Amino acid sequence: MKALILSGGKGTRLRPLTYTGAKQLVPVANKPILWYGIEEMVTAGITDIGIVISPETGGEVKAKTGNGEKFGATITYILQEQPAGLAHAVKIARPFLENSPFVMYLGDNLIQQGDLSYFLKQFQQQHHDALILLRTVDNPSAFGVAKVDEQGTVLELIEKPKIPPSNLALVGVYFFSNIIHEAIACIKPSARNELEITDAIQYLIGQNKQVSACRLEGWWLDTGKKDDLLEANRLILDTSLQTLIDGEVDTSSQVIGRVKIGSGSKVINCTIRGPVVIGEHCHLENCFIGPYSSIADKSTLVDTELEHSVVLEGAKISGIQQRIIDSLIGQRAQVTLEPRRPKALRFMIGDDCQIELT
Ligand code: DAU
Repeated sequence: MKALILSGGKGTRLRPLTYTGAKQLVPVANKPILWYGIEEMVTAGITDIGIVISPETGGEVKAKTGNGEKFGATITYILQEQPAGLAHAVKIARPFLENSPFVMYLGDNLIQQGDLSYFLKQFQQQHHDALILLRTVDNPSAFGVAKVDEQGTVLELIEKPKIPPSNLALVGVYFFSNIIHEAIACIKPSARNELEITDAIQYLIGQNKQVSACRLEGWWLDTGKKDDLLEANRLILDTSLQTLIDGEVDTSSQVIGRVKIGSGSKVINCTIRGPVVIGEHCHLENCFIGPYSSIADKSTLVDTELEHSVVLEGAKISGIQQRIIDSLIGQRAQVTLEPRRPKALRFMIGDDCQIELT
């Protein structure tokens, strides 16, 4: 059994962060999203992992993730020149996959820990040609959608339908036998000019192959957008964070609940109410950091209140007189209060940024 993790694509919905980096490397609880998928594979016993990368962000993904040693896996990188679709990614990965059955995992998806091992067992015991996972969602038009009969048999799969036949979305984790390659060879690009994996599975259904669907009951997030990413951050901090204080916390600070503070970080006169994770070499002074916040390495926060937010590496926030909530602050971004005249807002805002003032 092999694994194919898709970490190419353009990441347009997470702009501006994805102008300078891969969306799969955006951290959730201070760990790249992609790494959760790799760890899930290794926990399920799959250590031969191929990662599909793009020319734009592949170098960064490779440099950060390495050859797999730190996960107890062997990683092979597969370059996809164009984001020509999920089925196209499988097609170009054929030399890596050979004739092996495999799990395909979308590198921006997160599923509840432990679920992958469970579904892998189902797939292996029942000798399916394909096993897909379905979950009810409020906005099915944003996903691949399944039409199922009363017994739960999948009748039809449609990619991002305008009028969805159900609210059952295709989760970005798929299990395939090598028969999927025959299906991919027979499908044509979709209206958005991509070779869709949804169409390839639909082709298998049309050929009366063994396509089964399981309902995913645990949580699942497609972290393609800011609010989904914040929700993923909340869920991971809620379920997996353990207290570990390696940095220095002075006596006038209060640390409440589950909080992790990395080595080389200094916390001076702050209240930190967990779950909160603070990376290495951060400086926090006169701050309130509220639940569900993740602050990456080398960040500086002074005279700041922050809650339910993700701060990326090297960001600097100081003197903001209102609490910052529900925010995603990019690498090396600066949000500061300067006591200059005239008293005014001064911005240098990159393309596609969102600023909400009240
Ligand atoms: O998240 C689940 C959904 O994922 C499914 O419900 C849909 O049926 C499926 O098509 C997919 O839809 P998205 O529009 O969310 O896919 P996205 O373009 O975001 O790509 C998913 C991952 O695959 C992402 O990590 C980027 C990577 N990718 C994408 C394309 C199009 C590649 O590596 N190569 C590609 O060519």
